Amino acid sequence: MDNIILCGFMGCGKSTVGKLIAKKTGSGFVDMDAYIEEKAGMKVSQIFDKLGEDGFRDMEHEACRELSVKKGLVIASGGGAFTFERNTEVFRGKDLIVLLDVPLDVIRYRLRNDKVRPLLQRPDRDRAMSELYEKRLPLYRSAADLSVTGANNPSKTACEVIEAVKKFRQRSGVMD
Ligand code: S3P
Repeated sequence: MDNIILCGFMGCGKSTVGKLIAKKTGSGFVDMDAYIEEKAGMKVSQIFDKLGEDGFRDMEHEACRELSVKKGLVIASGGGAFTFERNTEVFRGKDLIVLLDVPLDVIRYRLRNDKVRPLLQRPDRDRAMSELYEKRLPLYRSAADLSVTGANNPSKTACEVIEAVKKFRQRSGVMD
């Protein structure tokens, strides 16, 4: 069975919804950031501090390569993972990439108190977030096989993803 990979902007609910999908379908769950943190023995914010964003992106790419050879997992990617073609290429055609599409105002509200995401710790957070969101949305859309709105409650979103994946697999002749 191929993996289901959730992609989308920070705060779109990839980890929360991913865990619920895994629970509802009896699959394993991997949070890509947690996977990177465990391998590195450091938090994402420490990796950014010590090695810079480029260092983190290399680790993220390595994690994509390692996770893509596994099967039957639900994977919550980091918000930047599918903005790099090299990561999309690793999964494309093999695993199912699902975008959790959430409007910017909902994201902004959810992340209003965030103190851990390195890309948001800046005085002009609102402007930076809008620019990043506009730049990234088309990249997520072109990477994803499927898109589901993630603005509802997580359990409902998880059910919608499961349903959309089922239909997609039926259409492509892949059995559960
Ligand atoms: C990032 C998103 C984060 C994490 C890192 C970079 C990004 O993951 O990978 O801080 O570039 O959007 P979440 O989407 O889980 O917050």
